[in-house]
Amino acid sequence: MSTLDDKAEETVGQVETTKSPEKDQKKKDQKNGSWGIILIFFVIGLVGSLAVGWWIFPKLLYSQKKQPIDFNHVIHVEAVEEGCESCHFFREDGSFSGVPKLAQCVDCHEEVMGEDPEEFKFVEEYVAKGNEVPWLVYSRQPDCVFFSHVAHVKMGKVDCITCHGHIGESTHSRVYEENRLTGYSRDIWGKNIAGLKKDTWDRMKMDDCAECHAELKAKGKIVQALPWPINWMPRPYEKPASSQVRVHIKKDACFVCHK
Ligand code: HEC
Ligand code: HEC
Ligand code: HEC
Ligand code: HEC
Ligand code: HEC
Repeated sequence: MSTLDDKAEETVGQVETTKSPEKDQKKKDQKNGSWGIILIFFVIGLVGSLAVGWWIFPKLLYSQKKQPIDFNHVIHVEAVEEGCESCHFFREDGSFSGVPKLAQCVDCHEEVMGEDPEEFKFVEEYVAKGNEVPWLVYSRQPDCVFFSHVAHVKMGKVDCITCHGHIGESTHSRVYEENRLTGYSRDIWGKNIAGLKKDTWDRMKMDDCAECHAELKAKGKIVQALPWPINWMPRPYEKPASSQVRVHIKKDACFVCHK
């Protein structure tokens, strides 16, 4: 019996104490405390999603591949007689040789000349066996894109650096990054995950091709009609009377760059 009474008294006591000012203060503190926790979770969430977006996502999106041989451009530009054109040249028909074939290397690399382990690997695994080196092409465009070097280098007088950067002055082949979803080289989208660019060679998307063409066209240097939506996009360098510069929608103009 007595225990029941004790309990009743206890609960009454509790009800009374919750009404006391100290308990109110405690509740307030608790409320403040939960705001603090919400803030902490918010910050963790924000930092976390930024890390995922800017750091982890690009790492997951792109797989890294090493070139089969680490190639030193500086040594070779000195060793050859005609600079870049010794290896990257135009054939009689105007087609571009691209990355050199093994036949262009064997004259010098019949046998190992130096101490470099990369040269050793190259001679052992490729020259001796007659296998072409499966070079990865950083600037490779999707198959549907038509690109001609002769139009740009010979007719347009655009230099290699404008589109490729300073690969010709490199002492090592850099890592090739492949988009896991599209299979395209990262050089198309660019290093910057937000798609921003500082230099002309940072990115080579459709808009980048069109941007240069439009610029030249505005200067009257190119008579190529750019199709919608490219001609429609606002361009800071176009004069106010830009409607005169813009070209009419041409149904087949896509096939200037696409096949
Ligand atoms: C001895 C031959 C040789 C010479 C000379 C040479 N290259 Fe190369 N080049 C190569 C080979 C091999 C590759 C492929 C390996 C690589 O990408 O590092 C290559 C790759 C390139 C690429 C990369 C293309 C891509 O998108 O993957 C560019 C751009 C390039 N060379 C420009 C130049 C320029 C500019 C010069 C002159 C300053 C030059 N090369 C001189 C052999 C040569
Ligand atoms: C005109 C002669 C010449 C030609 C052509 C040439 N090389 Fe070389 N190569 C050299 C010389 C010289 C060295 C430096 C050797 C040393 O002392 O280590 C070298 C070094 C190398 C090395 C080791 C250094 C490095 O780049 O990492 C590799 C690999 C190599 N060459 C690959 C190639 C390939 C691939 C080609 C064909 C696209 C080629 N070479 C064409 C002369 C040439
Ligand atoms: C830095 C400037 C620049 C960039 C970037 C550029 N082009 Fe060009 N393009 C030119 C010039 C200059 C010409 C040649 C104009 C002439 O005929 O004299 C040209 C011509 C062409 C032609 C030939 C048109 C014809 O009538 O035969 C095609 C196709 C083309 N470009 C496609 C592309 C594609 C695809 C890309 C992107 C991967 C690209 N271009 C990027 C400047 C550029
Ligand atoms: C207007 C931009 C532009 C200019 C200028 C340019 N390139 Fe390229 N280059 C490209 C594009 C785009 C590709 C990829 C083409 C493709 O995938 O069809 C490419 C591909 C290449 C390749 C790889 C070709 C292969 O598939 O084997 C080499 C090597 C190369 N370029 C070297 C050069 C050199 C050397 C110069 C200067 C003489 C030069 N390029 C000038 C845009 C350019
Ligand atoms: C100035 C050259 C140029 C013109 C003109 C052009 N394109 Fe492109 N287009 C490209 C290049 C380069 C790419 C590959 C790089 C990229 O994805 O942005 C591409 C990619 C594309 C792709 C994505 C293909 C893929 O496999 O990812 C589509 C779709 C496309 N273009 C449609 C069009 C249509 C439709 C037109 C006509 C309204 C057009 N393009 C005109 C250069 C051009």
